[in-house]
Amino acid sequence: MREYDIAAIPGDGIGQETVPAARRVLDALAGPHGFRLRWTDYPWGCAYYGETGRMMPEDGLERLAGADAILLGAVGAPDVPDHVSLWGLLVPIRRRFDQYVSLRPARPLPGTRLPLRDDRPFDVVVVRENTEGEYSQIGGRMFTGTPEEFAVQEAVFTRRGVERIARYAFELAERRSGKVASATKSNGIVHTMPFWDEVVEEVARDHPGVELTRYHADALAALLVLNPRRFDVILASNLLGDILSDLTSALAGGIGIAPCGNIDPTRRHPSMFEPIHGSAPDIAGTGTANPIGQIWSAAMMLEHLGETVAAARLTKVLEQTVLAGDVTPDLGGALSTDEVCDAIVERLRHAA
Ligand code: NAI
Ligand code: MG
Repeated sequence: MREYDIAAIPGDGIGQETVPAARRVLDALAGPHGFRLRWTDYPWGCAYYGETGRMMPEDGLERLAGADAILLGAVGAPDVPDHVSLWGLLVPIRRRFDQYVSLRPARPLPGTRLPLRDDRPFDVVVVRENTEGEYSQIGGRMFTGTPEEFAVQEAVFTRRGVERIARYAFELAERRSGKVASATKSNGIVHTMPFWDEVVEEVARDHPGVELTRYHADALAALLVLNPRRFDVILASNLLGDILSDLTSALAGGIGIAPCGNIDPTRRHPSMFEPIHGSAPDIAGTGTANPIGQIWSAAMMLEHLGETVAAARLTKVLEQTVLAGDVTPDLGGALSTDEVCDAIVERLRHAA
């Protein structure tokens, strides 16, 4: 029997509900597919911060390093500033484990109500750079509280960083429709973004079978709303990809179902899988959190581990569950988190 060590970090708010839900589903799926998951729980996050002044212990990253993958819920609480929670747990994991790809597929599950009038299906993947770019700690503030106060923050784009994320996007496009849309803003950001464009074009030359189109990110956002079907792989920097992937997941039926992989394609380090939603403090503890984003992220984890048959089966069952209307209130249903889970586990058991 194949075995995988999975580090579970439920984190805060509804992460405490969605991670156990995903575990239950994965454990039901594993046996029949010939593998077993060995879970280790890490109770880190904002509550831990309240007790210790840290989001995770000093040796936290070393403890995660041996895992085959990490399943994360969400991080963030109203009484801890978001930059503290993000930079104390999520960002260090992404950077230490060189998870330079943030992979965010967005496609409507049949049966979900979509925000657009034109609700024909589409299938896009945002490939977001995940370790550098606009999200840097370089900069500072001076003259705080005076009329001369100012803040400076530097974006960092490296040739190595842009090349490797572009290469990932082109290779993915080769396995899909053969189209890459690169998001830029080189009209307004005149140093880093033209550099991004140049390096992406260099990488494109190594992939003659893929058609590259460059879009300014604002126009790309508008085109996505007008017609998401014209896009397949969207390649974007850290900030632009963050924004565009929230847009694509909203277009695909909402924040409750969208998954995300933080991937080290070299496989030297564990990759991390999470829903794109946050800790949703407004509904935490009510039992109404939609577990599908988390479970879909778990399906991406199985795919990454090489359990492709189980991953495909789980994705199929998620589709069937949504289509049958076995969903939480955010998708117009009346089921609780646990009841959605029951419905999924039941289907996994029967529709083998
Ligand atoms: P959020 O995604 O937590 O919530 C936005 C809205 O969507 C809320 O009304 C919430 O109830 C709803 N929602 C989210 N997930 C849902 C689900 N699974 N089922 C049903 N409804 C759901 O974003 P928000 O409110 O901006 O942030 C809350 C906290 O989460 C903040 O501290 C933020 O920093 C953190 N956050 C963490 C992320 C992460 O861990 N990767 C990502 C985004 C936000
Ligand atoms: Mg975001």
